[in-house]
This record gives sequence, C-alpha cells and structure tokens, in this order.
Amino acid sequence: MSNRVVLVTGAARGLGAVIATQFHRAGYRVAIGDIALDSAEALARDLSADGSTACALHLDVTSKDAFEVARDTLFARWGRIDALVNNAGASKVVPVMEITGEQFDQVINVNLRSVLFGCQVFGQYFAGNGTGRIVNIASLAGQNGGSATGAHYAAAKGGVITLTKVFARDLGAAGVTVNAISPGPMDLPIVHESVPADKLKAVIAGIPAGKLGSADYVADVTVMLAAENAWFANGACWDVNGGLFMR
Ligand SMILES: NC(=O)c1ccc[n+]([C@@H]2O[C@H](COP(=O)([O-])OP(=O)(O)OC[C@H]3O[C@@H](n4cnc5c(N)ncnc54)[C@H](O)[C@@H]3O)[C@@H](O)[C@H]2O)c1
Repeated sequence: MSNRVVLVTGAARGLGAVIATQFHRAGYRVAIGDIALDSAEALARDLSADGSTACALHLDVTSKDAFEVARDTLFARWGRIDALVNNAGASKVVPVMEITGEQFDQVINVNLRSVLFGCQVFGQYFAGNGTGRIVNIASLAGQNGGSATGAHYAAAKGGVITLTKVFARDLGAAGVTVNAISPGPMDLPIVHESVPADKLKAVIAGIPAGKLGSADYVADVTVMLAAENAWFANGACWDVNGGLFMR
C-alpha cells in the first residue's frame, strides 16, 4: 500500500483527522484538505515532519474549481491519487419551520454540493485511470430524518446516500467504486460542543449500544472501503449507529 495516495476533505479536525491518521498508519500518503489551513498543516506536520507522506491543502469543498486545483496540486506532488474521502460537513441546528433559504443553501452546499463536485472531479480522474475509490461520509440523519442536527443537514445527508448510488452506477464499469458510511452520534468534539450535556445524556440513553460511536472504527471502515481489493463493494452504505436504526 505504500505508494497509495488519499485526499480526505474536512480533515483538519474531528472524524476527518482520525480518518487521515488511519490512512497514514496504513501506509498511504495523505492530503488533508480543509478551509482551516493552520490546523490542517499542524496535523500534516504531526504525521510527517518532512512532508514526504502527509500534506495540507486549502480546499473549500463548496467549489468545484477548488477540487480541480486540489487534484492537480496533489498529482503534481505525488504523481498519483487513489482515493477520495468526502468527509467535510457542517450544520447549525435550527427548527425546521424557521430554516431560511440562505441557511438551507449553506448547509446543502457544504454537505451535498461538496459530494457532487468531489465525485465529479475525482470520479472523472479515477475513471481515466481505470481504478479509484471514493468514500462519502453520510449520516444516520440522512436515513432517519435526524433529531439533533437540523432538517437541512438531514436532507443533505440523504442526498449524499443517493449521490453515492448514482456515481457508483455511473463509474462502476470504469473500475471506480463509490460507497457511503452513515455514522450515528460519535464520541467527537463537535458532539460535545454542540449538544448540551443533559441532552447528550438523553441521546446516549437512547442508543442501544449505550455509548457514543468510535471514530477510530469509522476510520477503519473508510480505509477498508478504499483498499484495492474492495472493488466488489460499490454503491453501498455502511451503517455505524449502535443499533439506533436498522433497515
Ligand atoms: N460527529 C458525529 O457524530 C457525526 C455523525 C454522523 C456523521 N458525521 C459526519 O462526519 C463528518 C465529519 O464530522 P465531524 O464531527 O468531524 O465535524 P467537525 O465539525 O468537527 O469537522 C468538520 C471539518 O470540516 C471542515 N469544513 C467545514 N466546512 C468546510 C468547507 N467548506 N471546505 C472544507 N472543509 C470544511 C471544518 O473546518 C472541520 O475541520 C461530517 O460529514 C459529518 O456530517 C459526524
């Protein structure tokens, strides 16, 4: 695996940082794409002090041009790209009846437009190579309508699962796979920052597993879906929700 290259979006912190670290441990050269460039650079330095196996890229996932620049920059640096993880996401909880058009568009842009552009730009590049892996980080909210995260976020994540299938079908014959992972609430900074402690206690009490999910495990699954031998897994959605939602 030592030559493989992956770009992880939104990897400056949270789940993306854990995913980037796990890829690095698996022997990948890792690009950390984020709008938070300072934190992305700090993680890249932690992983690879001389920059030979990890680098930071400024990448705003709401822009198709930015994905094209990231692809070209990465190719110029390491001469190949094998996998893309569309992980960047964001939401601000607003009651459904109060979501403005602007708020809706903003959340859709970061969580869904991003996946459209990432899959278009990297899907085309991978198809040209006859191989490639895309993993989209969706959410339980996209499957069950969500609870704590907002209707715009839930709608966007439902769209991520649908786009995953569309791109999987479109790119499959070219040797490219596109899969999604739908985590439930995980033990990550954003959950502790955005959910009040008493509400979080109630959320955890409602999870059959009795605790928040592990980012390490989601990262392991991401690495597994990006492996060369994962070519028969395509258009799937891997649920990691502690038994909160079964289908
Ligand atoms: N935390 C959870 O419990 C949970 C559950 C299900 C799904 N997810 C999904 O996992 C992914 C990561 O979540 P997290 O908990 O690490 O969130 P987080 O807010 O901690 O990290 C998100 C990262 O995305 C970056 N980002 C935001 N907007 C961006 C943009 N326009 N371009 C590039 N980067 C941008 C941020 O700078 C940040 O580094 C998201 O897609 C989220 O929806 C998280």
